[in-house]
Parts: sequence; structure tokens; C-alpha cells
Amino acid sequence: MATTVPLLLLFLFLCCVLCPAAAASAHPGYPEMEACGGEADLTVVRREEYDGGRILDITHVYREYMPSWESDEGLGQFLWLPKSMKNGSLANNSEMKLPAHSGTHVDAPGHVFQHYFEAGFDVDTLDLHVLNGPALLVDVPRDKNITADVMESLHIPTGVRRVLFRTLNTDRQLMWKREFDTSYVGFMKDGAQWLVDNTDIKLVGIDYLSVAAYDDLIPSHLVFLKSREIILVEALKLDNIKPGIYTLHCLPLRLRGAEGSPIRCILVK
Ligand SMILES: *[C@@H]1O[C@H](CO)[C@@H](O)[C@H](O)[C@H]1NC(C)=O
Ligand SMILES: *[C@@H]1O[C@H](CO)[C@@H](O)[C@H](O)[C@H]1NC(C)=O
Ligand SMILES: *[C@@H]1O[C@H](CO)[C@@H](O)[C@H](O)[C@H]1NC(C)=O
Repeated sequence: MATTVPLLLLFLFLCCVLCPAAAASAHPGYPEMEACGGEADLTVVRREEYDGGRILDITHVYREYMPSWESDEGLGQFLWLPKSMKNGSLANNSEMKLPAHSGTHVDAPGHVFQHYFEAGFDVDTLDLHVLNGPALLVDVPRDKNITADVMESLHIPTGVRRVLFRTLNTDRQLMWKREFDTSYVGFMKDGAQWLVDNTDIKLVGIDYLSVAAYDDLIPSHLVFLKSREIILVEALKLDNIKPGIYTLHCLPLRLRGAEGSPIRCILVK
């Protein structure tokens, strides 16, 4: 009896040392981590979808090596643990520092209009009715940017208010690369103008860091944001999602004074 207790303690100690936090990963884009036998309670479950695909997470995980605007280095370290249980704090308390237009994010009118910025049209003023509701996911032709001709060819029915545009960016896995790539597909000015003039679309979603092609960066943003009626959601994770109609839910942070914010978006079938 006297020797059993120390042996048990030794066993528990070895378990802790040999089996650090186990994790499972559901997406090939994330590094695989080994699950640890016998520690089922510590297995981290990360999901890209729920209920057999009824709920789809279309938000990118914020990570060090995700692309960041005009950077070759990626987002870099954005999360620290200044207070940790390891150094004697009662709890772990992380801090983060992140450009407002990082990863999956939303643009407010103040992004490209100084007078809107000064008047306070920040992300806290964005209409939750527009950010939540039925949405259409469409594939656009892979050989062009989104011009007026492309917009016309998509035949998006009147009355459709939210459209997620999947492009060559998803095929090229641009959001999974560290380096920012200026050759991403986005709206040319005439494509943005066509959308404003000929459709009822009030939410435009796209699969890289900007809805506007790099060559028409500011002109396209100006066309979209001028009326303050259109909300732009950028860097959505649209891999492996079938085109069609879903219910979209997008919630930005209430960052008073910010013209952009990280946003969590999901689709529900
Ligand atoms: C506590 O530990 C973290 C790393 O876990 C470190 O970044 C931080 O500087 C430490 N803080 C103090 C006060 O030692
Ligand atoms: C919280 O603290 C524990 C113990 O110090 C440590 O093992 C764990 O990694 C910390 N959490 C995070 C998120 O770093
Ligand atoms: C889209 O435009 C960018 C410049 O903004 C260009 O580099 C890229 O080749 C274009 N893509 C296609 C498919 O035409």
C-alpha cells in the first residue's frame, strides 16, 4: 500500500509531461497536431462546419502566417500573454494588436471618405439587417476581374440583397499564403458601378483582402461606399462551399471610431 501512492503520482506526472494539450484539426490548411491517447477531455475540437454542414464557418482563423495588406511577412504576432498562470497570475490574460482590416473583416464608409470618417460612419453604424439575412454565393469567371460585363453575365436576380463572390482567389488559395499578392481578383470600377446601378445588392462579400482589384483599389471602393448603403465584407473563407442561397450571419465588433473591423461570418443552410 505504501508504495502504490508514489507510483500512482509518478504515473500521473508522466502523463502530464508526455501528453501536453492535444488537438484535432478539421481543415487541411491548419497544421495537424497529434491527439494524445487517454486524454480525451483535453482534445480540442476545431470545426469548419456543424450539424453535418448545416452551419458553415466562412471566417478565417486569425493566424500569424495569414496575408496582411501589402506585406510579405504576413500578419505576424498579434497575440501575447503578458499575464500567465505560469508566472503566477490567477488566470491567463492575453492582449492583441491587429490592423482593423485584418483577415475576414468589414469596411465602413469612413474607410475611403474623409467626411464620412469625421461624421462618425464607423463600423458601429453598420446595419445589422444588411449583415444578416439571405445571401447568394456565386462563382465568377476565372479569367477576368469583376467588370461590368462579368456582372451582367452573372444574371443575379433583382431582389437579391447579399452576394458572396467566389473568385480565382479561392482556387489560388491566396488567403492561405503568407505573402500579399497584388494579382488577386476584385471589382474593377465599372463592375462596381454596374452593381450599384443595376442590382439590389447591399452586401458584397469576396474571398481576398479587398473587394476592389488592386488596379482600381480606390475608385471601386468609392463607388461602393459613396451611398453608405453597401457593406463590404472581405477575406471570406469560401473554400468547399456549394454555390447557392444561404442565410448569412455577420457580426463586426462595435469598434467606435474604426472604419474597419474583424468580423465573424457564418452561413446557415
Ligand atoms: C509572463 O510570461 C509570458 C509568457 O508566458 C511573458 O510574455 C511575460 O512577459 C511574463 N510576464 C512577466 C511579468 O514575467
Ligand atoms: C495559461 O496558463 C497555463 C499555465 O501556466 C499554460 O499552460 C497555458 O498555456 C496558458 N494559456 C495560454 C493560452 O497560453
Ligand atoms: C485582376 O487584376 C489584377 C490587378 O489588379 C491583375 O494582376 C490580375 O491579373 C487580374 N486577374 C485576372 C484573372 O484577370
